[in-house]
Amino acid sequence: MKEELKDSCYKVQGNTKLKGAVRISGSKNATLPVLAATLLTDREVTLKNVPWLKDVRNMTDVLKELGARANYENGVMTVNTKDVANFETSFELMNKMRASIYVMGPMLARFGRVKVAMPGGCAIGSRPIDYHLNGLRQMGVQIQTKHGYVDARVEKLKGAKIYLDFPSVGATANIMMAAVLARGTTVIDNAAAEPHIVDLEWFLKSIGARIKGAGSRTITIDGVSKLHGAEHTMIPDQIEAGTFMVAAAITRGNVTLESARAADLKPIIVKLQEAGVNVRELKNAIRVSAKKNLKPAKITTMPHPGFPTDMQPQMMALLSTCSGVSVIKEAVWENRFMHVAEMIRMGANLDVQGHTCIITGVDQLTGSKVVAPDLRAGAALVLAGIAAENTTTVYDIYHIDRGYENFAAKLNALGADVTRIDSE
Ligand code: UD1
Repeated sequence: MKEELKDSCYKVQGNTKLKGAVRISGSKNATLPVLAATLLTDREVTLKNVPWLKDVRNMTDVLKELGARANYENGVMTVNTKDVANFETSFELMNKMRASIYVMGPMLARFGRVKVAMPGGCAIGSRPIDYHLNGLRQMGVQIQTKHGYVDARVEKLKGAKIYLDFPSVGATANIMMAAVLARGTTVIDNAAAEPHIVDLEWFLKSIGARIKGAGSRTITIDGVSKLHGAEHTMIPDQIEAGTFMVAAAITRGNVTLESARAADLKPIIVKLQEAGVNVRELKNAIRVSAKKNLKPAKITTMPHPGFPTDMQPQMMALLSTCSGVSVIKEAVWENRFMHVAEMIRMGANLDVQGHTCIITGVDQLTGSKVVAPDLRAGAALVLAGIAAENTTTVYDIYHIDRGYENFAAKLNALGADVTRIDSE
């Protein structure tokens, strides 16, 4: 643990069963690329059901840095990129916000040039952008990487047949956005099929793009010459919904998720059911409840429709409380087990062998002081704390602020006792 823990923390009282209903917010992972896609049109765009998160605020700052105007009120964001006249995003913003790489595709499509700071690695892996750059090169873009910046220029993007070695969410979104204003047809093969890619297609269609196939492994885009304004409502957040499903299960509670979309949650629901959790689909809602004795499960993270890597830490916390031996294999990121050491502090019995973690269920997790190593792992530690005995303190919760809207307030409305203590 760090010598000085100056950041804000959550104090979590344990041994609590969660009960009641929670409304799932708009999707963070859908909002970030859609915000970047507003750069494709000089007309005003209105986005509804936008979650007010640190990542969303940072993405808005990236747009403003380029010269856009943006206004947020009560979940509704209006963006107008008519006056964009700067083509460079700064290192400072990229450093806060890796998703600012999403501006590449739309900026090249509309202005033919962009300069972005190279995204660094992050805790979960090295996070390269070679698929993004290779795809754009195939569309005619000249790219120079110098002094930590990617400088990209193109006279006019041309359609291309692009095969991704791995169905990367980021590369798929970037190429989709570039292709909508390109000359001719672009086909992305082995494309990502995540719900947020489908939402991006819906948004691009609403501003006049000709695009089909999102949700499958092949996306086809016929370039058009101009796009218009639109109003679009963001889909509910798949991972926030999954996190609250685990919150219900790990506390052996009974929680109804309002506005969650069961179709997006299938891989999570199947694994919860394998562990003996009851999941019932209602009209526009999902009810999750669990009894004391849950069973072990086997999980491998994969691109959608496989089990999402963003739910791996939360499931590890849950399976730590299920009797028997569970196995989780992390197959998307090379280093996404940093929460293991923190979970062990809380009494979990975990053994990491390469990319696999063997989990032997324990009767009871114990409250401890732990540090959130990243966004989803931070959420998992809070859930573990609610189920554990005594008090847990989760430090470095700035990670959690990036991706969960009103996390503590939502948990407390279900009966949890989570107090935020802000550093001075
Ligand atoms: C990934 C997840 C996404 C999650 C996010 C944050 C998948 C497929 N994607 O999205 O669900 O919300 O992390 O946890 O589960 N890669 C390259 N070169 C590239 C781009 C990616 O080698 O140019 C590799 C990455 O190193 C990684 C994999 O492809 O191993 C997935 O990357 P990608 O889907 O692009 O990452 P994100 O878009 O951040």
